[in-house]
Amino acid sequence: MNKMSTSSHTEKNIYQPFEATVVDIKEETPTIKTVVLKIRSNFSFRTGQFIEMTVPGLGEAPFTPSSDPGVKTSIEVTIMKVGMVTEKIHGLQKEDTVGIRGPYGKGYPLDKFKGKDVVIVGGGVGLAPLRSLLLSLFSDIDNYRSICLRYGARTPADVIYKELLPEWAKKKKVDVVTTVDIGDPSWKGNVGLVTTILKDLPVDMKQAVAVVCGPPIMMKFVTLKLLDIGFKPADIYLSMEKSMSCGVGKCGHCRVGKFYACKDGPVFTYEELKDIHDIWD
Ligand SMILES: Cc1cc2nc3c(=O)[nH]c(=O)nc-3n(C[C@H](O)[C@H](O)[C@H](O)COP(=O)(O)OP(=O)(O)OC[C@H]3O[C@@H](n4cnc5c(N)ncnc54)[C@H](O)[C@@H]3O)c2cc1C
Ligand code: FES
Repeated sequence: MNKMSTSSHTEKNIYQPFEATVVDIKEETPTIKTVVLKIRSNFSFRTGQFIEMTVPGLGEAPFTPSSDPGVKTSIEVTIMKVGMVTEKIHGLQKEDTVGIRGPYGKGYPLDKFKGKDVVIVGGGVGLAPLRSLLLSLFSDIDNYRSICLRYGARTPADVIYKELLPEWAKKKKVDVVTTVDIGDPSWKGNVGLVTTILKDLPVDMKQAVAVVCGPPIMMKFVTLKLLDIGFKPADIYLSMEKSMSCGVGKCGHCRVGKFYACKDGPVFTYEELKDIHDIWD
């Protein structure tokens, strides 16, 4: 074997996925499913980091695991059906395999949340990465002052983690309020946009941080509301789910001002982004 071919064989292909097997599928709503994947033993992620998931023969898409990073044998990914790749993922059955590469990005800076009231605001399937964050916070709850979850979905049928939300609300130091844009006779909770449940938060604004994930329009109005009630731009953390391709800072698809969302994010403070004009597009 000549020198040339030796080096090309030993060079690591950073885009090479590894195989993961579907072990369970949970239907959250008519358009959102949680897929449980058995993974190889040396994979781990930090909460808020994302993976690229490949559907063989079709393509790949980025997702943020919704499970507890402390669980090492499997990951859960909660996925909304919006196009080709996600539709194919929704059609997966137990024992099917997909490809995974990653984890990528920086995730949530838990060290900066310690000793604080953590206000978590989710919209729609945006609660998925926040579930991973919540599970991380719950497992170390003594290090946080409180956790305050505010979650909004379009209708009662669109609420994800329906069984988990009441369980989380029973935990010590945890306060949960859910709202829907449009109610129905079965819905006993709040009706209105998620911004309507952000007033009178049971937190000390001087020692609180807010973490927001959801559709761009929701993140925009939640951020404006949080600023309005006294949060500083540096204490508001946003997950920027910009369209991505390589996931590793090489293609430029995910550019947000001077940042690459895949490499420098996907979690940013509003302080870092506030002067970029098209962050909500
Ligand atoms: C870091 C990151 C983490 C993500 N985590 C999750 C997650 O946990 N769960 C989840 O359901 N989705 C998540 N997404 C969004 C997910 O990647 C897209 O929905 C997926 O790529 C769509 O692929 P598709 O082939 O099915 O649809 P496509 O055929 O590519 O697109 C169909 C429609 O969806 C829109 N779309 C495509 N990509 C995005 C995007 N990134 N954000 C908003 N709209 C988009 C397109 O504009 C189009 O209207 C995440 C995205 C990023 C960048
Ligand atoms: S996805 Fe390629 S640079 Fe970010």
